[in-house]
Amino acid sequence: MAKRDLISITDLSVQEIDEILDLADRITADPAAYQDACAHKKLATLFYEPSTRTRLSFEAAMYELGGNVIGFSDAKSTSVSKGETVHDTMKVISCFSDIIAVRHPKEGAAYVAARSCDIPVVNAGDGGHHHPTQTLTDLLTIRREKGRLDSIKIGFCGDLKFGRTVHSLIEALLRYENVEYWLISPEELVLPDYVRDQMKAAGVKFHEIRSMEDALPELDVLYMTRVQKERFFNEEDYIRLKNIYILDEEKLSAASQDMIVMHPLPRVNEIEIDVDDDPRAVYFKQVRNGKDVRKALILTLLGWKED
Ligand code: NCD
Repeated sequence: MAKRDLISITDLSVQEIDEILDLADRITADPAAYQDACAHKKLATLFYEPSTRTRLSFEAAMYELGGNVIGFSDAKSTSVSKGETVHDTMKVISCFSDIIAVRHPKEGAAYVAARSCDIPVVNAGDGGHHHPTQTLTDLLTIRREKGRLDSIKIGFCGDLKFGRTVHSLIEALLRYENVEYWLISPEELVLPDYVRDQMKAAGVKFHEIRSMEDALPELDVLYMTRVQKERFFNEEDYIRLKNIYILDEEKLSAASQDMIVMHPLPRVNEIEIDVDDDPRAVYFKQVRNGKDVRKALILTLLGWKED
């Protein structure tokens, strides 16, 4: 059987996505039933870029499936500092593990990683490009909170240029019916052309606007993002743009009572702490969903079959 990778969310069919979300639901309902499903298997987490949730939720997922974890969270302490390429590192690590999750600052690095070895490779974020496992987390959260993935009105707010979670989630939602998009950003941080072109080709309704307040009353889902400091070329631009959108309780009063507020986290200033207690804020639930959906993904890519 050919190995499966997850580099972009479009590597999975809609049916496969739905099956992974269904499996995540069964795992959440009865985690003990899966506690030995990955016994004697190893996940390698290779993080060339900072991470808290993604790496630790992958690792927690593998441990809870009865498997083990190897890897690094700082490439400086590895042979990368001696000049080893991604290609060679993957070839080597694939001798020691069954599946790899890789995060890298360069767009396309996960694709190169997948081409370099014969075990499944998961893109845990490649530069400002894609982040498909955050997308699975986001889809599971929307489905659990709203009961559907089609016919939703979703607003993406903040750094739509460098926010890889936004790019991957839009690519996923384009395959569901009747989703309408509000793209809320300053001029400097608008969505990249390649994503907008896909929206145009799909013929979906989308509105590119500057004001969060104008969009809020329309939305079922508000997806906030952090301005991606590490991808800016100069500090001045970052300082000028970093506080451009700040969601607080007052602004939220214009939104519907059943709108949900999502955020891939980490948050910097873009959501005031007082919003955390609002029942519409689901970003910490989102983190919890991330672990179970990664369990479902690991099982799927390793070809595990339910009894
Ligand atoms: C996101 C990422 O790394 O792209 N974080 C995450 O994985 N949950 C979002 C971000 O860093 O802003």
